[in-house]
Order: sequence, then C-alpha cells, then structure tokens
Amino acid sequence: MSELPQYGKHLSSDAKMRAVLIDRYGGPEVLRLATVPRPVPTRGQVLVRTRFIGVNPKDVIVRKGKFRVATGKKFPIIVGHDIAGEVVEAASGADLRVGDQIYGMINDFAGRAYSEYAAVDCGQLAPAPSSIELDMAAAVPLAAQTALQALRDDGRLKPGQSVLINGASGGVGVFAVQIAKILGGRVTAVCSARNADLVGGLGADEVVDYAKTEPVALKDRFDVVFDVFGNYHFDHMKHLLNPGGTYVHTIPSARIFKDIARTFVLRKRAKLVVVRSRRAQLDWLRQQIDAGRIRVVVDRTFPLADVAEAHRYLETKRARGKVVLAVD
Ligand SMILES: NC(=O)c1ccc[n+]([C@@H]2O[C@H](COP(=O)([O-])OP(=O)(O)OC[C@H]3O[C@@H](n4cnc5c(N)ncnc54)[C@H](OP(=O)(O)O)[C@@H]3O)[C@@H](O)[C@H]2O)c1
Repeated sequence: MSELPQYGKHLSSDAKMRAVLIDRYGGPEVLRLATVPRPVPTRGQVLVRTRFIGVNPKDVIVRKGKFRVATGKKFPIIVGHDIAGEVVEAASGADLRVGDQIYGMINDFAGRAYSEYAAVDCGQLAPAPSSIELDMAAAVPLAAQTALQALRDDGRLKPGQSVLINGASGGVGVFAVQIAKILGGRVTAVCSARNADLVGGLGADEVVDYAKTEPVALKDRFDVVFDVFGNYHFDHMKHLLNPGGTYVHTIPSARIFKDIARTFVLRKRAKLVVVRSRRAQLDWLRQQIDAGRIRVVVDRTFPLADVAEAHRYLETKRARGKVVLAVD
C-alpha cells in the first residue's frame, strides 16, 4: 500500500508532487505542505495537473474531524474538493483528452484536491469555461453545483416562483442568486449591509439586511426558502413558505433528518442538499458562465503554502464569494 491511505489499492507512481496533508484532525495549523507520490489514474480517470483549488467550508469541516465517521482514522489525508487545471494523462475509458483544460469537484468524502496532481473520475469533471481564467473556474464546482441542486432539484424552483436566499453573499449564495434568476425565480436575498450592492448587482430583486430585518420576520411568502447560511431550521421558517413550498437546508444534523422524515407527506417540506459533482451540471454551469449569465465572485486567492491562512479567513464566515488557492 502507498504511504497515502486515500490511494487505497490504487498505485502511486515514483514521481513526486507537493500536497497539503493533515496527520490529525484539528485547527488550521494541522495543514502541512509535503512531498508525496503522484497518483496514477485508473480506468475512466484522468490525471489533472492542478493549477487552482477552490476552498470550501466542507474542507474546514473535514480538517476539524467533524465528519470522521466518513473520513476515518487513517492519516495522512489530503483534503479539498474543487480543482481547475489541465489533463496530463488519460487512462483507458477516459473521455477527456491530454491537454484539455478542466474544472470539477472530487466526490470523495475527504477529497484529494490540495495537491499538484489528482487522479479523478471523468464524470466528476468537465471542460472549463473558456470565458474565464482557471483561478475563477476553480471557484465554481462545489458551490455552484450546491446552488443548482438545491434550487432546481431539491426546491424545484419554477419560472415565476419566489425564493428566499439566506446567506446570499458567500460562496454558495452568490451562485444561488444568479441561478435562481436563470431558473426564472423572483429573488429575495439576505446578507449584511456591506454586501447589499454585490448581491443586488448579481440580480436579486430585493436585498434584506439581516441586522435590520430578521428573515423570519419578513411579510412575504416564498415557494422556496434556501437557508444557505443554515442558522435557521424548518420550524423557524415554515411560516414563510407558500403551500407546496420547500425549505432547503445545507448542514447535515439529526434535526434536519427528522424534519425531512416528518414533512415527507406534508404540503410544506424540508430538504437537505447533498452536493455531488456531475458532468451534466458542470456543462450547464459552463454554458451559463460563457453566455455571461453567471459571474464568478472570488474574494481572495492565497498561494498553496498559505493554506492555513486561507482556512482562517474562510472560518471568519465573512468571505464575499469564494476563496481560492494558487498551486504555482
Ligand atoms: N450540504 C452540502 O452539500 C453543502 C454544500 C456547500 C456548502 N454547504 C454548507 O453551506 C454553508 C454555506 O457555505 P458557503 O460556501 O456559502 O459559506 P461561506 O462562503 O463561508 O459563507 C460566508 C458568508 O456567510 C454570510 N453570513 C455570515 N453570517 C450570516 C448571517 N447571520 N446570516 C446570513 N448570512 C451570513 C456572510 O455574509 P455577510 O458578511 O454579508 O454576513 C458571508 O458572505 C456552510 O455551512 C457549508 O458547509 C453545504
């Protein structure tokens, strides 16, 4: 077995790469830059030379060990999910070619993205948008696919319906506002006053400053409530839903699973979005970006060596849009 348990029975090559590892769960200080074997792509996979990496709250949660039931006790672990780069090797059965510029999200629970190379199933990747640079492309996959799945698949938002987006200025929120507009929704977006212009500029019909008006005190009613920030629960917000409306939460907990079970047959339902990367979704997002219908908002880009600082910044919960790591 290789020295990286995540490679499992798959081979690692003699060639080396730089990667960010954790040897135990903990604070940002457990993130360590190291030299490790390069993975070898297996059937249906490509080897990606990673240029930029999107940083997500899920990376922080994995680093802290909050999902240790899924991420296990075998270390070291390479964390991270979002990548943008180019294909440098294609195994048999791969439908991407050497030289393709790609973007995507690694579906494994802990991820493996914080590295110079990653072997990834082709179905989790797609050609990158051509109208933006790869640093912007790396900011898209996890957050934008979360917004798309939450609004289109879980919330079933239809043209002419109304949607409330709580936490509209963060990584997921900036995509949610724009995707809700593309799906034909009327968007009420909740954020702090300092981000009102940003969110209004992304197309929100109304922007609510949560310091002045708590979202639960709103008089309007909605077909979909997307609680991106996740500081409420179904019971707090169900009065905001029209009959047949859906509340979509982002944070797994015993409470949301109970809410989903008990509202399954009711007219107002609770759901939890659980993001998965799929080629078709990435293709759809690329088309929207290249058509100018989705703008990518990157707040800060850190060098890979400053990954701990990037995590500290994300953990302030004040990021406007996305945080990205530059590999070179
Ligand atoms: N289940 C899934 O598949 C899935 C996928 C993706 C993300 N998530 C979860 O979704 C959550 C959001 O992710 P993210 O990437 O958008 O996070 P993020 O980028 O860290 O969110 C930062 C934003 O949160 C906003 N915020 C802070 N306090 C707020 C409050 N009291 N009310 C409303 N907004 C507030 C901030 O806006 P202001 O500065 O304007 O307050 C900031 O723009 C995280 O918990 C993440 O783990 C789940």
